[in-house]
Amino acid sequence: MYDQASTLRKLAGERDSTRKRNMRVIAVSSGKGGVGKTSLVVNLALALIEHNHRVIVLDGDLGLANVDVAFGITPRYSIKHLLSGEKGIEEILYEVEGGVKVLPGASGVIELANLDRGQLKNVLVNLGRLEKYTDILLIDTGAGLGHNVLNFICASDDVIVVMTPEPPSMTDAYGLLKSIRSQADRLNINIVVNRVKNEIEAKQAYDRLEHAVTKFLGLSINLLGWVYDDPLVGKSVMEQKPVGLSHPTSYAYKCVQWIASNVTGIFVDPPTQNGGIKGFLTSLLKGNQN
Ligand SMILES: Nc1ncnc2c1ncn2[C@@H]1O[C@H](COP(=O)(O)OP(=O)(O)OP(=O)(O)O)[C@@H](O)[C@H]1O
Ligand SMILES: [Mg+2]
Repeated sequence: MYDQASTLRKLAGERDSTRKRNMRVIAVSSGKGGVGKTSLVVNLALALIEHNHRVIVLDGDLGLANVDVAFGITPRYSIKHLLSGEKGIEEILYEVEGGVKVLPGASGVIELANLDRGQLKNVLVNLGRLEKYTDILLIDTGAGLGHNVLNFICASDDVIVVMTPEPPSMTDAYGLLKSIRSQADRLNINIVVNRVKNEIEAKQAYDRLEHAVTKFLGLSINLLGWVYDDPLVGKSVMEQKPVGLSHPTSYAYKCVQWIASNVTGIFVDPPTQNGGIKGFLTSLLKGNQN
């Protein structure tokens, strides 16, 4: 199953031996579908741009053009045209609002998962050219333990596994971590807990997962952050505009901005849900108690 990924890494390694890879490749994945990967990817891209990083999003989800829908775009070309040699990478990149560049995957991703060594080398040469345009390549891998998902994860520097506090999502996250266990020595494994009510719920869910993966898989993982359950995310999905663009002051996006600072290694406190009128009233009540 990992043959192709090891070829990919070997080729990347050959490239890296002459020149250090400057572009950081981050795969965003999940065991269970529908937990918020695409939402995290598109908003994290926007938040990383606020930190002055150049970001490209690769839609690595098979068949379903998730990232296109999230940004409300219909790109003409996809990675399929790169693989067929019809287009170069520069012609495929689609710049969307907020400065994010999208590398549409669509059906081409199926082919990407089944390339031979020569074709892979061509893709890598092209992806290597991305270093001129980007600091971070974010890949929305789609969900599950499929061949392509694992290949993308194994070719990345970091993986962000998204889960919700619901038990099926945690069990599936565990299953995914089990599948990538053999890569643990070279891969940073990060967890984002999405759709939480509060910090306590996020930490409890993470602690349960961490306990299991430490005990049964001997893996070390890292809590990258959490995102509050926020109706504005659903609203933005309907509007086909990421919440970071349509509602930049929403609690959900504040969490993603905090996660972006964790990705870039800048330490800030996690956002609380105590801003606005709620925060004002809470402070007022606290003041009255003194
Ligand atoms: N923080 C959040 N608060 C509220 N709703 C959310 C949040 N994150 C995601 N959602 C909702 O969950 C739905 C699924 O999100 P999204 O499409 O990002 O998941 P996914 O993991 O990419 O799904 P798939 O596996 O199908 O690609 C969205 O339509 C959105 O309404
Ligand atoms: Mg998705």
